[in-house]
Amino acid sequence: MNNSDNFKHNFHLTDGSYLLNHSVGRPLKSTQQVINDDFLAPWQQTNKEPWQQWLQTIDKFTHGLANLFNSKAELFCPQSNLSSALTKLLMSLPQLNTSNKGIKKAKILMSEIDFPSMGFVAQNALNNHVEIVYLPQELSVTEINHWQKYLTKEIDLVFISHVYSNTGQQAPLKQLVELAKQNSTLSVVDVAQSAGILPLDLTDLAPDFMIGSSVKWLCGSSGAAYLWLNEQHIETCQPKDVGWFSHQNPFEFNIHHFDYHKSALRFWGGTPTILPYTVAANSIKYFADKVELVRKHNVKLQNHIIEQLPEFIASPFDVRQRSGTVILNLVDNQKAIAALTKNNIAVDLRECGIRVSPHIYNDENDIERLAEVVRKHVS
Ligand SMILES: Cc1ncc(COP(=O)(O)O)c(C=O)c1O
Repeated sequence: MNNSDNFKHNFHLTDGSYLLNHSVGRPLKSTQQVINDDFLAPWQQTNKEPWQQWLQTIDKFTHGLANLFNSKAELFCPQSNLSSALTKLLMSLPQLNTSNKGIKKAKILMSEIDFPSMGFVAQNALNNHVEIVYLPQELSVTEINHWQKYLTKEIDLVFISHVYSNTGQQAPLKQLVELAKQNSTLSVVDVAQSAGILPLDLTDLAPDFMIGSSVKWLCGSSGAAYLWLNEQHIETCQPKDVGWFSHQNPFEFNIHHFDYHKSALRFWGGTPTILPYTVAANSIKYFADKVELVRKHNVKLQNHIIEQLPEFIASPFDVRQRSGTVILNLVDNQKAIAALTKNNIAVDLRECGIRVSPHIYNDENDIERLAEVVRKHVS
């Protein structure tokens, strides 16, 4: 019995091979039950409003994240997606407020291959009172010496994707966060593509901020994103997009009195959504102690793809530079995708090639089928 056999039965899987885990993970079978128990039952079965039980879901979500990333629950704030989290964060930082710097604009460093939405936010959140410096896409994001030339003392904030969605690359995260600290540059880490597949210890790494979601390797719902703040910054962050749940005492109901919440929840806003966090709290709990196991299995299947199709690999060979995704460049990728889709193998296509992301519920058969279709297609 291999690893995936022990886990497959916990997930809703259909016929064919599902290798789109960089996009949306498969739902746990327990999802339906947890929606019934934690979301619907408190709403359907009593004559009271369900907020007390619903808010317990948010506690489960933030505690699950604390376990997953080895940190404290009160340092996490639920967010609807990363773009919104980053907008709120950038607007809240006194360090980026140009009025503190005279006429000099604050500088943000990011990579040209970051997820575009993150660039859109950086360009717009501060009304152009910020200069964006890009690590050019020709320079590999995996090499610290490329970053070193750009991550200088002039940079106020560096945005680091732990891994990159279209290239299958992993950033040298520890070295980058250390370099940022040496330069007194704030660091924001994007774990959208790495949460649940690459272990990450926030207590050890201690970046300034982190944003992430639950919808990919964590098999949670969309709409269950999060913002994490290093404890030292909570007091100084002053979010502009607030609501009664950002207030220290949401139930005070005094329009003349607002105090920022003492925890990361100062970034929360108005009446929160519950349902996506119900789903994500359950799946995060499931994965919190399994990330190393999932990664080991993922690397084993990645190695299998690399052995089978070495000439088509466009993502890193060195495991320390790999994300959870292998990229295949097959020359006529459009045709290859059509052949794979016809054979019920779910993958997708981006600029650098076809993205293939094996999770704990995938096995060698999925890889063999993929390799067979690819071989047939190119021959
Ligand atoms: C690296 C990375 N960052 C961010 C996002 C998503 O951002 P948002 O939640 O704002 O849609 C993605 C989505 O795939 C991603 O791959």
